Amino acid sequence: MSPADWLEASTTVASSEADLAEALLLEAGALSVTLQDAADAPVLEPAPGEMPLWPRLQITGLFEGGRDPLRLLATLHGRPPVAQWRIARLEDRAWEREWLRDFRPLCFGTRLAVVPTGMTAPAGRTVVRLDPGLAFGTGTHPTTGLCLEWLDGLAAPQREGPSEPRDQATPLEGALVIDYGCGSGILAIAALQLGAAEAIAVDLDPQALLATRANATLNGVADKLHACAPQDLAELLAGRRARVLVANILAGPLQQLLPCFADLLADHGRIALSGILVGQESVLEAAAQEAFQLEPAAVREDWVRLSGRRKTSS
Ligand SMILES: C[S@@+](CC[C@H](N)C(=O)[O-])C[C@H]1O[C@@H](n2cnc3c(N)ncnc32)[C@H](O)[C@@H]1O
Repeated sequence: MSPADWLEASTTVASSEADLAEALLLEAGALSVTLQDAADAPVLEPAPGEMPLWPRLQITGLFEGGRDPLRLLATLHGRPPVAQWRIARLEDRAWEREWLRDFRPLCFGTRLAVVPTGMTAPAGRTVVRLDPGLAFGTGTHPTTGLCLEWLDGLAAPQREGPSEPRDQATPLEGALVIDYGCGSGILAIAALQLGAAEAIAVDLDPQALLATRANATLNGVADKLHACAPQDLAELLAGRRARVLVANILAGPLQQLLPCFADLLADHGRIALSGILVGQESVLEAAAQEAFQLEPAAVREDWVRLSGRRKTSS
């Protein structure tokens, strides 16, 4: 055993026993306690202030490797919550770089690549530099990928339609873009790298706004990207309307936000809505018909992206 190794003690408990199990681990000298879903019951975006737990969870305490595993087991055994504890040794590694094993440059559409810092970008691609952090959005999730591909498509010269102003051959070029539910800011940064003039990234989570600003600096676009809470958006816009709006949230909040999106988007402006589970799209499509002309939906794994244009406002 290397002195740098760790011991892990874990068990599965009902959420009602989580506090007891955590207290027991801390009393036994745990350096940290981790809660994980034990039964594949996702908790999707709780409302602000809510901290729901999974119905059954795996709870794991991390201990210094010099502890005697049998003594540790004896300390935990038979104490409330009475549970089957497992002790395992955890090899020490450079944990802060572990994510790199599963995180590689990812390409989206014909132009875009999301590349972790320090990795070589694929040749000829427009690059967004991004590392995993606390805020959602690295490009690995299908809902983000669907939005990145849509933005990539907007960077392609488009055929002129009857309702398309002549100078808008490439919809992103010079556009004001709103990324609503920005998380890491990945979509706003991608839009800027693909030619947008300015992006406003909106999120109700202050951590997401911090991450977005840090990622904007990392990508050299901090002067063109403003991150704000929803209540500060109107002041930043100062009466302007966006030419492109992308929102990767979830079906429920998206439906509530549709009237707000209609107000934020200029006539004929482009919109993409992502984070919609297969089966939820028809309700959203029906709600969006009034203000938006929708295109055929795009589907990846269990997720749907709706997109379209703002109808002329009366
Ligand atoms: C699924 S993440 C998307 C992150 C990133 N845009 C991406 O595509 O990977 C959704 C984000 O929306 C934010 N969010 C959820 N409801 C919101 C609301 N009503 N207004 C603003 N942001 C919201 C969450 O805090 C979260 O950061």
